[in-house]
Amino acid sequence: MRHLLSTADLSRDDATGILDDADGFAQALLGREIRKLPTLRGRTVMTVFYENSTRTRVSFEVAGKWMSADVINVSATGSSAGKGESLRDTAKTLYAAGADALIVRHPSSGAAQQIAQWTSHTDAGGKPAGPAVINAGDGTHEHPTQALLDALTLRQRLGDIEGRRVVIVGDIVHSRVARSNAHLLTTLGAEVVLVAPPTLLPAGVDTWPVTIAHDLDAELPAADAVMMLRVQAERMNGGFFPSPREYSVRYGLNDDRLRLLGDDAVVLHPGPMLRGMEIGYSVADAPQATVLEQVRNGVHVRMAVLLRLLVGNDSDQQRGDHKVE
Ligand code: CP
Repeated sequence: MRHLLSTADLSRDDATGILDDADGFAQALLGREIRKLPTLRGRTVMTVFYENSTRTRVSFEVAGKWMSADVINVSATGSSAGKGESLRDTAKTLYAAGADALIVRHPSSGAAQQIAQWTSHTDAGGKPAGPAVINAGDGTHEHPTQALLDALTLRQRLGDIEGRRVVIVGDIVHSRVARSNAHLLTTLGAEVVLVAPPTLLPAGVDTWPVTIAHDLDAELPAADAVMMLRVQAERMNGGFFPSPREYSVRYGLNDDRLRLLGDDAVVLHPGPMLRGMEIGYSVADAPQATVLEQVRNGVHVRMAVLLRLLVGNDSDQQRGDHKVE
């Protein structure tokens, strides 16, 4: 694996390997006072964010630092992107400055894929070279590490993903999280149901490996997990239909709806949450909700992805045996 651009590129073995490594990191670091592995010493990881982020940017930085990489954060504001430098020139500049990995968030779908193409080349020995590129969210397209951390959370809570029914609810049309999860969860053997008003479903959703429904109340009793999505007002010009109030009434996960779920079912949200809109104020803090577990798993999954892309997956020796310094 040279890049992580889409969950559609992950085989079941790839995905399971990353989740197993992430679990290994969680165990290795659990309860340790010093959270530092030598695995990526001497490597330089750059986060390149053209959109706002709290969870993804911070957890990649924590992941890199816990593995002893040098981590450099670049954002559109404060870099020469703000002076009009193109994405291509910025990416090639950061590679020339020493990036072993570029972790990219950008409002345009396909931006990470483009950067991977622009920076790939062959070295003097004819081998493929260039930085590893990780898609940290590209427009409405994909957010693969989010889907991996969601899968890890589901695996920890439910025991296994195979045969589970996962209901993804809300603003599917603008959600890179929904698309990445639809691919990954079906690769891992889950059944995925999308619940949304027709106005918030993307063109071509009939080609996704999912079933579509519109009545949330009807879907909750049989769900093993329900994943609530934020309504992305920043991607809607001039509001949306249904109205926010109608949306909340029909598609919000409130206390009454929480009671429709089975005893062992869980509630995921990728964050940031709009409490009172897609998820009730108290539902977000209910025992079924995994919001902060997802954040914690995000660090371990991103460590596992950096490991796979920068070191490989062929030997424990290469990984430094997960030794804690
Ligand atoms: N879930 C997620 O991508 O959150 P951030 O936008 O805070 O990174």
